[in-house]
Amino acid sequence: MRTHYCAKVNETHIGQEVTVAGWVASRRDHGGLIFIDLRDKDEVIQLVCDPADNAEAHKLAEDIRDQFVLIATGTMRARGEGLENPKLKTGKVEMVVDKLIIENRSKPMPFDLNDDKVNEEIKLKHRYLELRTQKSYDIFKLRSKATIAARNTLDELDFLEVETPIITKSTPEGARDYLVPSRVHNGEFYALPQSPQLFKQLLMVGGFDRYFQIAKCFRDEDLRADRQPEFTQIDVEMSFCNQEDVIQVAEKLIHNIFDKCGFNIPTKFTRMTYTDAMEKYGSDKPDMRYDLAMVDVIDIFARCDNEIFSNIAKDSKHNRIKALKVPKGDEIFSKRQMKGFEEYVRKFGASGLGYFQMKEDGLKGPLTKFFTDEDIEAIIERCELEVGDAVFFGAGDKKLVLDYMGRFRIYLAEIMNIIPDDVFEFLWVMDFPMFEVEDGKTKAMHHAFTMPALDENGDISYDDIEDLKSVAYDIVLNGTELGGGSIRIHKENLQKEIFKLMGISEEEAQEKFGFLLEAFKYGAPPHGGFALGLDRLIMLMTGADSIREVIAFPKTQKAQCLLTSAPSPVEDEQLKELSLRIRKQAPTT
Ligand code: AMO
Repeated sequence: MRTHYCAKVNETHIGQEVTVAGWVASRRDHGGLIFIDLRDKDEVIQLVCDPADNAEAHKLAEDIRDQFVLIATGTMRARGEGLENPKLKTGKVEMVVDKLIIENRSKPMPFDLNDDKVNEEIKLKHRYLELRTQKSYDIFKLRSKATIAARNTLDELDFLEVETPIITKSTPEGARDYLVPSRVHNGEFYALPQSPQLFKQLLMVGGFDRYFQIAKCFRDEDLRADRQPEFTQIDVEMSFCNQEDVIQVAEKLIHNIFDKCGFNIPTKFTRMTYTDAMEKYGSDKPDMRYDLAMVDVIDIFARCDNEIFSNIAKDSKHNRIKALKVPKGDEIFSKRQMKGFEEYVRKFGASGLGYFQMKEDGLKGPLTKFFTDEDIEAIIERCELEVGDAVFFGAGDKKLVLDYMGRFRIYLAEIMNIIPDDVFEFLWVMDFPMFEVEDGKTKAMHHAFTMPALDENGDISYDDIEDLKSVAYDIVLNGTELGGGSIRIHKENLQKEIFKLMGISEEEAQEKFGFLLEAFKYGAPPHGGFALGLDRLIMLMTGADSIREVIAFPKTQKAQCLLTSAPSPVEDEQLKELSLRIRKQAPTT
């Protein structure tokens, strides 16, 4: 239908006949002349309808409104002096229209396509209209480039692309499953995969050696700005490898994706242990675009003359006293602001927030009276304080203090406006604990198939189960978890032991994972891998505010598709076939 995409038309076409096709971005009637900005997938061209040249086309143009679909044929000419638009590739030319076809009309837009602040529900209901904007097109062009770069890199590295099932058995990744009732097997259900984890391990047992998949994953969990119930992973697994081999592949993959998308990033990423990340930044995904690291001062506070602190300091295994220095904080924040910060951390369970100010004449603040001069000096030295700095203290239960001080760090960075938005800071977080204990339940921190760190005899040993480490690693980008992986267990006995430590009975292990344990009996190779969240990757690359912007048809925070109205009730007949009956009750969250 067209001879050229708009973006391809320029001064070289002056005097030539061209046909373009697209949507009306705007129309201006200059009494006599009608100007139309016609937009196709990624560029705008100016059409001029002059009654003197072509009365018929001009007559049609009078009727045209925004977002009508047009096919326009005409002769290109240079724009008049001073009328050029440097923002457009076509900005030096315009088309004098000879023939105009209105292919389709459009109702007035339900929202202004150029307004970023429009209510998201309206946009999602008409998502195809938002996709028509340049901003959306650019995002999906980048997403396509990134996906192709991932495929090409993994292909070059000898990985085989394999598809794994979508209606399958539960693959636990810590969320609830989406279930699919079986018609043929009444009362039984498939689960949609939370990830291809177990199948990719079985592909290793199958001898494929190197696998990847651009895999759809489904998780019924609380949604946030960086989570969707249905999302995509670049999923990778390899055999006869150690952690270093996997990290090398991941770094090469990430580097190539960024490179092909036009971003220059390092070929190797910084590494940090989980323990350091938690102790210094109060997070297992610290944002390394700014510093603000915490230091431990529990030993100094142990000697102070304040019972609350000295008692907390008695149990240095389970408690923490952490100092967070803010360079020039005393100059930046008023006393009232400093006190106000306490309100912030209280929201996350803190009982208070101490602070000191480094003045010309020494360390000041409500707490100084409890310390000896030597210990005041020790605080100054430990926190590396200079005149004008402020330092904040959190004291109490380890998990609580690390959590609220970590949040406070981010909060401070945001209000101080010190987070650069044009850099990519990658970080490997390594040596994750194998388990975490929540409400008395031992849960795998990565997943149950992760190799625990073994002692010199090849056994699991620990005093406190939460101290047992694993061969698991996460890749963090600008404070967001981009991906994660681990070396896996490939021996039946060790896998059974881990299930046991998690309180999974032998029967339950057989019922849920019997197929994996069975496969391990037939020569499973050592293996490991990782998965990157593709949507998150694109979100971070494009600086999008929400993961929804980078998914063509996303769901709302309440997991609904407003475009199709899913989920929705089904016919009684369908329920009957599935032997299901709906019991009306208040939704559980
Ligand atoms: P994990 O659960 O860490 O690991 O997931 C890997 C990456 O997938 C992305 N991700 C999500 N993205 C959007 N919405 C969600 N709801 C969501 N959940 C996870 C994140 C995350 O880092 N099988 C293991 C990988 C492995 O061990 O190889 C797994 O799925 O970017």
